[in-house]
Amino acid sequence: MNSDSIKSMRAIHQFAESLGKAIDAKDAYTESHSLEVAEISRILALSLGLGTEPADIIHIAGHLHDIGKIGVPDHLLNKRGSLNEEERLLVRRHPQIGAAILSPVQEIAAAGICEMVLYHHERYDGQGYPLGLKGDDIPLGARIIAAADSLSAMTGSRSYRLPKGFDAALNEILRCSGTQFDPHVVNALSANADRVRNILFSLNRRKKHERKFSDRIENQQRRSSSEAQRRFRREFRVGIAQSDS
Ligand SMILES: [Fe+2]
Ligand SMILES: [Fe+2]
Repeated sequence: MNSDSIKSMRAIHQFAESLGKAIDAKDAYTESHSLEVAEISRILALSLGLGTEPADIIHIAGHLHDIGKIGVPDHLLNKRGSLNEEERLLVRRHPQIGAAILSPVQEIAAAGICEMVLYHHERYDGQGYPLGLKGDDIPLGARIIAAADSLSAMTGSRSYRLPKGFDAALNEILRCSGTQFDPHVVNALSANADRVRNILFSLNRRKKHERKFSDRIENQQRRSSSEAQRRFRREFRVGIAQSDS
């Protein structure tokens, strides 16, 4: 990579992180999910022997993996009950929508990020979507993101369930090694379990801190708006009294 392409990859990374935050902001329960997937994916890629450049590309794809949810109605993403067949098909379109959204950005397309986004819900045994690709036919980045995505989703709350503990989530992924997930990726995850657990823990702490900060701002806004309302009512009453006299 020359210095120009390093600079543009850096800009793409920053923009990917910002788009990931935008998609996570659609649902209060998924805040920082894309960031978690990006961070876990980079650890797994490096552990599987990839160099820093391909690991960084997979990290960027992690930030962007669910960007296609922009094209899925919010009420389906936040629905508490189970989805009917038609709704499920709509939600399952998000990988194609995401790949289509990203395809005009040449560097992203050339780095293979569109394919990683398109195939992040494929399963190692061929039972995933959108194409039902199997084994090594699924790009490695997408196989890595699939495991990182599941771990982050299981350890995070959703509108319809409480979070699983880290060990329970990891055990679930180990149980699905060779069926849902690439066994090499699962081995890398279990070899890096402590690091991944620490990353999730520190992101969670940051999340709580940010939530406290935004709650404080909201409270201040609420207080100042109720003061403004009281002032308005007072002035309104004075105005009425003056016009009566
Ligand atoms: Fe990042
Ligand atoms: Fe997804």
